Amino acid sequence: MFVDENRNNMKFERLLKCFTRDLPTRWYCYKSGLKYQRDWQIRGEVKIIKKSWLFCKLFRKKTGILQIGKGFKCNNKIKSNTIGLIQPCVFNVLNPDSQIVIGNNVGISGSTICAVKSVTIGNNVLIGSGCIITDTDAHPISWKLRRERRSDLKAVSPVVIQDDVFIGARSIILKGVTIGERSVVGAGSVVIKDVPPDCIVAGNPARVVRKLTL
Ligand SMILES: CC(C)(COP(=O)(O)OP(=O)(O)OC[C@H]1O[C@@H](n2cnc3c(N)ncnc32)[C@H](O)[C@@H]1OP(=O)(O)O)[C@@H](O)C(=O)NCCC(=O)NCCS
Repeated sequence: MFVDENRNNMKFERLLKCFTRDLPTRWYCYKSGLKYQRDWQIRGEVKIIKKSWLFCKLFRKKTGILQIGKGFKCNNKIKSNTIGLIQPCVFNVLNPDSQIVIGNNVGISGSTICAVKSVTIGNNVLIGSGCIITDTDAHPISWKLRRERRSDLKAVSPVVIQDDVFIGARSIILKGVTIGERSVVGAGSVVIKDVPPDCIVAGNPARVVRKLTL
């Protein structure tokens, strides 16, 4: 009797998971052009800016790389995050040589990740609502070059977010930054320099406000 009840409960849970998680994730992966993975949870449509496979095949060009690991959670709907979202997630793989590599068990809410060279995100990283992570300034510092629209001279330097980092909502991580393992970035911070492991940084520009033990 008890075993039957347990089995029924498990069946119900599986059915519920199918309708609340698997099917919506499958649908949003399809709409966003991502290859569906069973253990992902995608809520709402992700914006992926990347040359299509067909374009690259036809014009013999390489595609950039967008690689995402297991257990990925990605919130893109306003109600999918406790503090709401101001945008869906945007993954911008700008050039044929660009790469965005995301590890296992990463959660991202309504944030932009933009790579001309590379943005690498480790395992178990959490990225709060409305963050921007970019390895490029997008425009040159010199006004003369900006007038000439010389986008080839913009500053670019890879970004690395190591394992178990938590990035607070509305933070901006700029080019060339490495955030060390287990560190926390306070909400609304602008990170312009490397962050050591095991510390909290906050503010604009972000500075170490506390070391973490444990
Ligand atoms: C970083 C954070 C986790 C620190 O929390 P905490 O351990 O309670 O830290 P404290 O409140 O003791 O603050 C420590 C110091 O950092 C400063 N600080 C903390 N967060 C800050 C922030 N976001 N910006 C600027 N300074 C900040 C405090 O003023 C304090 O400075 P002081 O020692 O000179 O007084 C928290 O402030 C935070 O920003 N959380 C992010 C929440 C979030 O965005 N969640 C994601 C939702 S999607």
